[in-house]
Amino acid sequence: MARRVLMLLAGLALAGCQVLSTPLATEPNSNTEPTLYQQLGERAGLAEIVEDLLYLIVDDKRINHQFKGINVAQFHRHLTDQLCQLSGGPCTYSGRPMRKAHADMAITETQFNALAENLILAMEQNGISTGAQNRLLKRLIPMHPDIRNL
Ligand code: HEM
Repeated sequence: MARRVLMLLAGLALAGCQVLSTPLATEPNSNTEPTLYQQLGERAGLAEIVEDLLYLIVDDKRINHQFKGINVAQFHRHLTDQLCQLSGGPCTYSGRPMRKAHADMAITETQFNALAENLILAMEQNGISTGAQNRLLKRLIPMHPDIRNL
């Protein structure tokens, strides 16, 4: 897992050029190959992943203080819808833009990576393949500057 967090970090450096220019249409989507959305267990599977992520966040001293007092049900719904939409599912994210949602939090690189690590763990716990995990992480990378308010 540490290796994949490192890969995510390496990917961040490339986010401006490679990842952003990768069209989502490159997603394999024949009748035999499941889409990323399907590989993540569709919306119900993503809801489980986000629930497990929330438990991991609560237990993680590196970041749990940032989440004190949030509306947990709303966060769960919004993050699930966001990941659903991002993976090609039939959902519409209705939360705030990432820069606005994370403004004034002064999120550090370490905290961003801690969240990514917990998301990987939550996906592991739900039996998501490494390939599907990496494909989802790759789609999250372009959000990094907004979440960190860079
Ligand atoms: C890839 C990384 C991340 C993604 C995709 C993400 C996504 C989201 C989404 C969808 C929301 C809901 C926004 C809304 O309801 O309008 C949210 C809220 C929030 N995020 Fe993040 N986030 C990420 C990283 C982080 C990190 C690293 C932290 C802190 C360590 C963080 C802390 C929060 C908090 C505290 C809220 C609740 C804000 C509020 O309700 O006022 N997020 N995030």
